[in-house]
Amino acid sequence: MPRILFIGDIVGRPGRNFVQQQLAALKADRGIDLVIANAENSAGGSGVSSSIAGDLFEAGVDAITLGDHVWGQKGFDAEIDRQERICRPVNLPDGCPGKTFLIVETNGFRLGIFTLLGHRPMKVEASSSPFPAADKMINELKRQVDALFVEIHAETTSEKIALGWYLDGRVAAVVGTHTHVPTADERILPRGTAYITDVGMTGPYESVLGRSIASVIARFVDGMPRRLPVAENDVRLCGCLVDIHPEKGIATSMERICLRQLDLAPESLSDVL
Ligand SMILES: [Fe+2]
Ligand SMILES: [Fe+2]
Repeated sequence: MPRILFIGDIVGRPGRNFVQQQLAALKADRGIDLVIANAENSAGGSGVSSSIAGDLFEAGVDAITLGDHVWGQKGFDAEIDRQERICRPVNLPDGCPGKTFLIVETNGFRLGIFTLLGHRPMKVEASSSPFPAADKMINELKRQVDALFVEIHAETTSEKIALGWYLDGRVAAVVGTHTHVPTADERILPRGTAYITDVGMTGPYESVLGRSIASVIARFVDGMPRRLPVAENDVRLCGCLVDIHPEKGIATSMERICLRQLDLAPESLSDVL
């Protein structure tokens, strides 16, 4: 039974470092076959670069997804087409560079992966509704893969939950990202799709969504533009594990995970603190 780990939005160096430190042991401990990671905030809090993606692949990530910060790093739009294991959100305008889906394989099991951007208050100009975009991708991919893993990168809980029900039974998982806050609603829907509204970010939780508390408060108080540095403390790796029935292409179990520095066995603490 293939076991997939999905890692929520990796934020900045603290998030990257924690993934690099923990992923190999996590994969071995939990018998993980494939790792998908959203890296939309991995470069200084906004976007990803080819070199950071390379570090994440080396750490054990198999596939990288992105969100509304897809173009956050200058020049990445000219590099993304050369990346074999990175996909951008599906429902951006057709002319945008980058793959709209990935197919990764483990022991002959082929998993199709794609990310949909939410349509409700998202600041991405010209993105289209995720519902018909999902239908189109499923039609395009269903004969090429054994199961589909869908990420919904969106702001509103209602849009994400509705999409989960809309795709129930047609895909193995619908996993939410973008809000950076984990939700406690993971479950297997009646027709076999694993669903969670948001897995939460992988980064510093002593923060406001990964950014320094003081700078975000100051921006709310005086409304002035300012840099929002990535915070540093209370780093957690948040995501979910999904087991997929290889013939049926639906989920058999789902578990939310949140690995914290302080949860680590005492002998490991010296490595990360
Ligand atoms: Fe994010
Ligand atoms: Fe986002």
